[in-house]
Parts: sequence; structure tokens; C-alpha cells
Amino acid sequence: MRLNIAIDGPVGAGKSSIADEAARRLGILHLDTGAMYRALGLTALRKGVSTEDEAAVTNLCRHLNIAVSHEKDGQHTFVDGEDVTGLIRTPEVSMAASSVSRYTDVRKEMVRLQQKLAAETDMLVDGRDICTTVLPNATAKIFLTASPEERARRRWLEMQAKGQTETYEQVLEELKKRDEQDMNRLVEPLRQAEDAVLLDSTHLSFEQVVDRVLEIVEEKRHG
Ligand code: DC
Repeated sequence: MRLNIAIDGPVGAGKSSIADEAARRLGILHLDTGAMYRALGLTALRKGVSTEDEAAVTNLCRHLNIAVSHEKDGQHTFVDGEDVTGLIRTPEVSMAASSVSRYTDVRKEMVRLQQKLAAETDMLVDGRDICTTVLPNATAKIFLTASPEERARRRWLEMQAKGQTETYEQVLEELKKRDEQDMNRLVEPLRQAEDAVLLDSTHLSFEQVVDRVLEIVEEKRHG
């Protein structure tokens, strides 16, 4: 049977790095679905399409070819054949991704593509609606979270390491704004699926969280 693992959670819960490591240890691919919304957000910014204009964003999405590949250094994300992996992690693209992800037809397109990818191979998929919508029959479902202050602190440290100059307060404010938008949008808002296991990483180390993810997967796989 296909092994599909779903991890959802808010901004900065560590989903991407935890998912990367857990997938590596399980020997399966990791699909970062946020990168797909980011690719669309980036393209809207580049083409001057307002992220507030649902019709224009939806039209843009329909005419774009968003694709991913899995390389030695992780997932690469493409827009019409251009590798945009290095361009999608800025604060502007984060907000644009959150904005374009509010639209029903954009979500339909993305969900369809994600389901197709997950049907092709064993995969760990992370995002906001994976447990609830993309993979309702996933082998294991996890809702990974941490307190807003701890998530902001981790993100701020990451940004500092990259030489970015935002203050902790700015990072916390941006994170709360994006949480608010992701949790209160009308279509498929971020929420914990009833059958997802809650994993609060506020007081856990990276290793402890990865171990717990693998434990949950084992429990679900073998009862
Ligand atoms: O996980 P991330 O921060 O890279 O995601 C960027 C934005 O994309 C996030 O603010 C909300 C949206 N998103 C979504 O709506 N559904 C997903 N499955 C993944 C991301």
C-alpha cells in the first residue's frame, strides 16, 4: 500500500526541516506544498498581478506550469521551466503566497497537482490542508505546532543566519499576520484534522520532534 504521511501546521512550526529529515529517515520523498503557493505568489509579484485580485490570480495560476523535482539538495520548484527555488523564501513572497492561497480555484489546481504527485510514489507531504483535504486517507496525520513566540524565535534565528535584518518583533508580527490570514480564510483554513495527532514542539529539540514523528508513523503503520 502507498505510504503517504501528512503534516500540517502554522508558519514556522518547523514543518519543512522536520519533514525533510523524517522523510529522509523513512527513505521517501518530501513534498513541500508551501513552495507551490510561493511559486504562484512570486509570479504574481513579478508580473505585477495584484494578489487581492482573485480573478487575475486565478487566471495566472491556470496558465502557469508549476512543477517540482527532488534532487540531492532537496526539492526544487519550477515555474514554466524556470527554477525559482532560490527566490521564494523572502518575506514579500511569504505574504503573497498566503494571499493567493485564499482563492478557491487556485486551491483546486494545487490540490489536484499535489494529489497526483502523492499517488505516484511514497511521500511525506507538508502544508496547511494536507490532513484535511489533500490526503484524507494518509497513513499518518500530524498537526505540528509551537507557541507563536517560539516559532518567531526560530524563524528569526534562521533569518539572522542568512544575513537578513528583520528584528524579532517584526518576525513575530509577520508570523501572527500570516497565521491570522491562513486560519481565517474562507476556503480550507488551517485547522487540526480530527484524526491528526497533535505534536507541540515548543519545548522539544529538533531530534526529539523527528523521533516523535517517526514513532507516530510506526504506530499508525503497524497499529
Ligand atoms: O508553508 P509555507 O510557509 O511555505 O506556505 C506559504 C503559504 O502558502 C502559507 O502562508 C499558506 C499557503 N499554503 C496553503 O494555503 N496550503 C498549503 N498546503 C501550503 C501552504
